[in-house]
Amino acid sequence: MIVKNIKKIHIETYGCQMNISDSEIVASILTSNGYTYTEDVLSADIIFVNTCSIRENAEDRVRKRLQYFKSLRKKRPELLIGLLGCMADRTKTALMEEEQLLDLVAGPDSYRHLPQLLEQVGTGRKAIDTILSVDETYADITPVRLDSNGVSAFISIMRGCENYCSYCVVPSTRGQERSRGAASIVRETRDLFDKGYREVTLLGQNVNSYSWKTGDEVITFATLLGRVAAVNPLMRIRFATSHPKDISDELLHTISGTPNLCKAIHLPVQSGSNHMLDLMNRKYTREDYMERISAIRKIIPGCAITTDIIAGFCDETEADHQDTLSLMQWVGYDSAFMFKYSERPQTLAADTMTDNVPEEIKDRRLREIIDLQQQLSLANNKTEVGRIYEILVEGKSKRSDNQYFGRNSQNKVAVFTKTETGPGEYVTVKITGATSATLLGEVV
Ligand code: 5AD
Ligand code: SF4
Repeated sequence: MIVKNIKKIHIETYGCQMNISDSEIVASILTSNGYTYTEDVLSADIIFVNTCSIRENAEDRVRKRLQYFKSLRKKRPELLIGLLGCMADRTKTALMEEEQLLDLVAGPDSYRHLPQLLEQVGTGRKAIDTILSVDETYADITPVRLDSNGVSAFISIMRGCENYCSYCVVPSTRGQERSRGAASIVRETRDLFDKGYREVTLLGQNVNSYSWKTGDEVITFATLLGRVAAVNPLMRIRFATSHPKDISDELLHTISGTPNLCKAIHLPVQSGSNHMLDLMNRKYTREDYMERISAIRKIIPGCAITTDIIAGFCDETEADHQDTLSLMQWVGYDSAFMFKYSERPQTLAADTMTDNVPEEIKDRRLREIIDLQQQLSLANNKTEVGRIYEILVEGKSKRSDNQYFGRNSQNKVAVFTKTETGPGEYVTVKITGATSATLLGEVV
């Protein structure tokens, strides 16, 4: 039943790929309950903001945006605002009661209840549901692909996280780790292939600990990857994110032996210092990490390796920072996401450690990390010149109508002159030039 006055919904997404995937689940739940999705924020009856808590500035950005929506409501008093995702539980009291900003708040495991929550909102009451679940995986829901290029899509394969890295808010915002049934993941992949998609990224906070039991059989992540890859050799499979402590040789051999499993591994290191890794509760040492990198290089030659790095965690000394720089140099990452440490409430670090690296030192260390990565990315990309790759075409290049862009298996973006072969198809491209972010090439 559609409640009077609420018909059109719009969702704005902040944060990680998992959140993009969640917004697609929300769109699916609501459109199959009679609501329509609009791309136009100004014509929506309710604007949902799917939020991220990972760093303070992620939350600040959401707060600013909510203030903007509040100003829209001055002109359109009937406009409703809903908050979804990782900030839901943490900020519901402040945002809903003190600022009178929100009409609806739903946490990451409450999306199935959105139709009921909207009915409640339709009768003039506020609605909140932020209870986390131990088994919700939205396995049976076919996401509505939002903002899609029609070529690549995300598939969520697990939810929650139990690694308890001391800096990280995710175990508190997303709850216990749980895997989604393998058959429904394979089915979603096949369905995407039939609709013309040619690349899926399997998502979870720690995909290496994927585990699904059917009868006597336990399906590991390596087995799941094999099954997903078997859907069609033209479907490329990527995954994120791997935890260094769990990335097994079995998995590396599966990737190496299966052409459509992409040769790109995102392996967040966070720091190159054993002291920091210990305080961060990462459960591996610098040496363990280097051993895994050597295994990747040996088992999957030519595999791209990318990472996440945090600068200025609690008690970080200059020597710890130098350890991070030297490890980056040793690995020679293809690219990296680099952040300043941001203390988050309800984390082990906030409860038991002191955020004691001064802001200007954090800034300087982050700058040095970014500068080094820039050099490493450029040096890596320069070695690509002269190589030939299969590129999956994604669309027109932003810079020129005469050019297409796409990615190779290593997830590097290549730009080349347009041909007959369009988005969703593969072309063979010879790399002729490179910047730190992009490869330039010509179709051969
Ligand atoms: N401060 C800074 N960066 C963080 N990350 C996670 N928590 C924090 C934090 N409190 C980074 C990590 C993680 C990525 C998704 O975000 O590098 O891998
Ligand atoms: Fe994603 Fe973590 Fe941000 Fe939640 S807090 S949206 S899980 S990055």
